[in-house]
Amino acid sequence: MRFSQVSALVLGVPIVTASAYSKRQNSTTEKRYAILDNDWSPAGSIPFLMALDAGIEILGLASSTSNTWQKQTAYHALSTLEVGNLSSCIPVYYGATHPLINTPTLFQAWESIHGSLPWEGAFKKYNATAEELGADPTSGSDPNRISKGAFVQGFPNVTAVEGTSAAAMMVRMVRRYPGQVSIYAAGALTNVALAVRMDDGFAGLARELVVMGGYVDVNLLQTSGDILQADINSDINLMIDPEAAKIALTALFPNIVIAGNVANQVMSTQAFLDEVYEVENPYSYLMNRYYNAGGTFPFWDETAMAVLLDRGVVVNCSTVYIDVDTAYSSPNYGNIHVYQEALMPPGLRNVTYVHEIDEGKLREMDKRSVQFPKSCKDLR
Ligand SMILES: *[C@@H]1O[C@H](CO)[C@@H](O)[C@H](O)[C@H]1NC(C)=O
Ligand SMILES: *[C@@H]1O[C@H](CO)[C@@H](O)[C@H](O)[C@H]1NC(C)=O
Ligand SMILES: *[C@@H]1O[C@H](CO)[C@@H](O)[C@H](O)[C@H]1NC(C)=O
Ligand SMILES: *[C@@H]1O[C@H](CO)[C@@H](O)[C@H](O)[C@H]1NC(C)=O
Ligand SMILES: *[C@@H]1O[C@H](CO)[C@@H](O)[C@H](O)[C@H]1NC(C)=O
Ligand SMILES: *[C@@H]1O[C@H](CO)[C@@H](O)[C@H](O)[C@H]1NC(C)=O
Repeated sequence: MRFSQVSALVLGVPIVTASAYSKRQNSTTEKRYAILDNDWSPAGSIPFLMALDAGIEILGLASSTSNTWQKQTAYHALSTLEVGNLSSCIPVYYGATHPLINTPTLFQAWESIHGSLPWEGAFKKYNATAEELGADPTSGSDPNRISKGAFVQGFPNVTAVEGTSAAAMMVRMVRRYPGQVSIYAAGALTNVALAVRMDDGFAGLARELVVMGGYVDVNLLQTSGDILQADINSDINLMIDPEAAKIALTALFPNIVIAGNVANQVMSTQAFLDEVYEVENPYSYLMNRYYNAGGTFPFWDETAMAVLLDRGVVVNCSTVYIDVDTAYSSPNYGNIHVYQEALMPPGLRNVTYVHEIDEGKLREMDKRSVQFPKSCKDLR
């Protein structure tokens, strides 16, 4: 139903059918690699489990400052790999701690003019009590502090790679396997933007960029329900670092795929979480217990991963030219704007904007990968 709100800007461009789109992807014989950049969390393992289940080699997990500061999310990545004995085959790389320009102070000043975001991620005001009670760190004077209480999955006993940033790793891997590395970004786009600027060849040598985030025409939806409804229709991943989002989404990746509005299509109902937990293991436990902490949420990151793994899950998408609003004075600072080719300003590129996916296929991929997680032994 949410898709009925899409504007004439989106409707005005030709709809590319999912099958035509997947024919352009030649993935039948080539080995596929992926780098997963995310703001990792206790129940946030599903995207890497899905990728492993699909036989993709994960070259690394990168940490992003988005829901909380990157160091905390790197520790979540380490510990969620550890609970499944995956630490020895998947390295974790620290991402950039700070967005390119945005800061908690700038963001909070912006909110005082344009209104509060229901979910403020790392830029939520510092709250010592909340952190003592186990919340992930937000704002504050030391972005590298770790809030141990948040590690309901266990505190990591392994460490991230030292001396190589996430952006440097992305550049190195894409040069090692040209045309074969998918970049998955389900947090802010800071690391991707840094890689784009570090090496002019980076974007063109990647296979694709798949993004969770990039909502279009959801303003009315932000007012037509409760705060949770506004929350799931806000766009923290892009808004944390608008300038990075603009750099990444105008870079010359062979393909860019946006899972924005569609990421709200499939909800993680408790009945489904219970169904997955019929097979008990550390991942199905964490998913069952923590995925819906604080509400019933859509399968945001899982939707983007499903599209990365199999274009056959896409049942409706279109090609649009995309920009990101980088005017700090704008109420849409950090939100995307889409155009058809005839009307766009210079400097933009086409992206695949996904409107609808096959819900059954997503649930299947989600469930199988969590119930029967791959081990390092399977990956050799
Ligand atoms: C695909 O999505 C667009 C945008 O929401 C919509 O206008 C169109 O009717 C959809 N097409 C089909 C076949 O569902
Ligand atoms: C797909 O890739 C394989 C191996 O690189 C190649 O042999 C084949 O011709 C390609 N198919 C198409 C339709 O491009
Ligand atoms: C991880 O390894 C330990 C020790 O070998 C084993 O007891 C545990 O079942 C393994 N966990 C998973 C999820 O495979
Ligand atoms: C800080 O966090 C505590 C615990 O979650 C909460 O009760 C309190 O209202 C928060 N304070 C502010 C100013 O938001
Ligand atoms: C790390 O080791 C400690 C002590 O054995 C354990 O309690 C904790 O759960 C481990 N962390 C993870 C993520 O498995
Ligand atoms: C997107 O742009 C590229 C490069 O200009 C072009 O080759 C491709 O055909 C375009 N794709 C669509 C679906 O318009």
